[in-house]
Amino acid sequence: MDKFAIHGGNVLRGTVSVSGSKNSSLPILAATLLTRERCVLHRVPDLSDIRYMLDMLRYLGAEVEFADGTVTVEAKKVAWEAPYDLVRRMRASVCVLGPLLARCGRTKVSLPGGCVIGDRPIDLHLRGLEALGSRIVLSKGYVIAEASELVGARIALRGPHGSTVLGTDNVMMAASLARGTTIIEDAASEPEVADLARFLRSMGARIRGEGTGRLEIEGVDALHGAEHTVISDRIEAGTFAVAAAITRGELLLAKAPAEHMGSTISALREAGVSVVEEEGGLRVRACDPLRPFQLRTSTYPGFPTDMQAQFCALAVTVPGRSQIADDIFPTRFMHISELKRMGAHADLLANVAVIDGIPRLSGAPVMASDLRASAALVLAGLQAENTTTVSRVYHIDRGYEQIDAKLRAVGADIARQP
Ligand code: EPU
Repeated sequence: MDKFAIHGGNVLRGTVSVSGSKNSSLPILAATLLTRERCVLHRVPDLSDIRYMLDMLRYLGAEVEFADGTVTVEAKKVAWEAPYDLVRRMRASVCVLGPLLARCGRTKVSLPGGCVIGDRPIDLHLRGLEALGSRIVLSKGYVIAEASELVGARIALRGPHGSTVLGTDNVMMAASLARGTTIIEDAASEPEVADLARFLRSMGARIRGEGTGRLEIEGVDALHGAEHTVISDRIEAGTFAVAAAITRGELLLAKAPAEHMGSTISALREAGVSVVEEEGGLRVRACDPLRPFQLRTSTYPGFPTDMQAQFCALAVTVPGRSQIADDIFPTRFMHISELKRMGAHADLLANVAVIDGIPRLSGAPVMASDLRASAALVLAGLQAENTTTVSRVYHIDRGYEQIDAKLRAVGADIARQP
């Protein structure tokens, strides 16, 4: 298992090119199962989660090619069963449920299982698909869904923590091939959901309202092949923005999707970081003293839970008391105990991290537990004295394309070790 050795203290300067979005690409890849025709997707990041999804598509019978950021999928025939061994590798595989049900009239998809960032039920996905007329049973760890015909319906997708991103995707994909009109209330309005809606529309789907909490989908008989370019990854861009801030450096984030990063940009500015939109990117610059800040995650356009861990790392280096609450995944704080091993003064009160910043962390061996927690540890390592080793970096490789090479190119001392 690879690890990163980071010698902290270098000030990052230069330009980082932001990749295509992981969380757009995954459901868009699943959507290619909705048609027999060829789909071509550009700016797909080369990540292990993407490779898992491509393996899933191949297992289901699709012909798949991936080169230079372009994926071609042709699913002339599809199998209807997605087994545990594939689904357990990545929770996002659950978004084949809607497409398989719509394409095959029945499907059997393994329940995704536990996740280190908290309880992640799929009750809203199932409720939405049932409202479209499918019969669903849970048996021996599998979701078995059947529908001789999907029929449009009015569906509310609000759960105890707000809407659901992949649940909205699943229902929107199935509704695209249902008879009649579906209205999804409390739909997720995340940019990645809107990107999927645009891809579906280029396949012939009739969808209105993407980017809002109300989606209207008029079902069509069939979808056709399409070509699409995936949006930039707002979470990767946000993570590099924090890298600039935590090293008190300056980075130009080329292709950063500023229009999708409003709450992250506001949070950086609240901390005293300068963020300026330029042609072609975002310029992020920080110098001491930064200010402590208060954050609370919420659904888009609120502050993203996928940026919570990285801002915890930043807070640890900003003198004064910061408070960061996560209302989407209230237990997503595995990074706190690892940051404490690096000298952070931080406590958890229920779903709130209370952090008293210190001028400099000290390097230590730490363990990555999930994707964004691992990113937070790398960020902390960039600021810490001496050497930090972050083990189990396969978590980072799931969601960041060559993060070590990109950081090295702007001055970080980071090496991948076997
Ligand atoms: N929820 C339910 N019932 C459901 C589904 C979700 O109660 O049926 C709850 C969840 O437990 C959570 C909240 O609703 O409290 C939001 O979960 P959501 O369904 O929106 O999460 P997701 O769709 O499974 C996507 C991203 C996550 C990101 C969340 C929240 C992908 C592939 N994953 O997951 O990304 O944290 O939305 O924005 O798009 C990551 O990239 O690191 C990551 C975990």
